[in-house]
Amino acid sequence: MQGDVESILLTEAQISRRVEELGREIARFYQDSQDGIVIVPILSGSIVFLADLIRKLPIRMRIGMAIASSYVGTTIRPEGARLLARLLPRIKDREVLIVDDILDTGGTLRLVQQNIAEGEPRRICTAVLLRKPGKAPPDVAVDFVGFDIEDRFVVGYGLDYNDLYRNLPYIGVLRPELYED
Ligand code: IMP
Ligand code: MG
Repeated sequence: MQGDVESILLTEAQISRRVEELGREIARFYQDSQDGIVIVPILSGSIVFLADLIRKLPIRMRIGMAIASSYVGTTIRPEGARLLARLLPRIKDREVLIVDDILDTGGTLRLVQQNIAEGEPRRICTAVLLRKPGKAPPDVAVDFVGFDIEDRFVVGYGLDYNDLYRNLPYIGVLRPELYED
């Protein structure tokens, strides 16, 4: 599995330092929220980031989840995001923080943000671990970003190709000959 990765873009140590900083930033941002926040991770890509991030957030929180898919099988081209399921505590009048692994074309986040907005939360903010430059349209806003990365297909730390590689502890570039484009 390690041999399928051409180069390591972000090491375990780099990710862990940055997630800790993000945790401090986000905790400060929500320090006055009395009723706590509702965190909505977009599965499956955000699970590893979520697990690390929430343990760096010493604030009152509830956790829901949204399951979306943008790729099917072995393609790396977004094929239009679909929201497959949602499991949420009450969000009306509450602070919601959507958490995703990566902002690429923005289709997934736009869909989830619009869907959550229908539940009339007090405010929606979004945190992503990674952002690829210049591909998401301006209406897809993110408030917290771990790293801006170049436009390569990456795997690990929750991110997959064909549902594999999510358990790599770092983020790496997959050898291009391994995917069918
Ligand atoms: P978007 O809808 O194009 O912004 O894509 C977001 C979703 O596509 C993410 O939640 C990921 O699941 C997936 N994705 C986008 N870029 C990558 C990548 O480089 N590696 C793995 N998954 C990716
Ligand atoms: Mg994915």
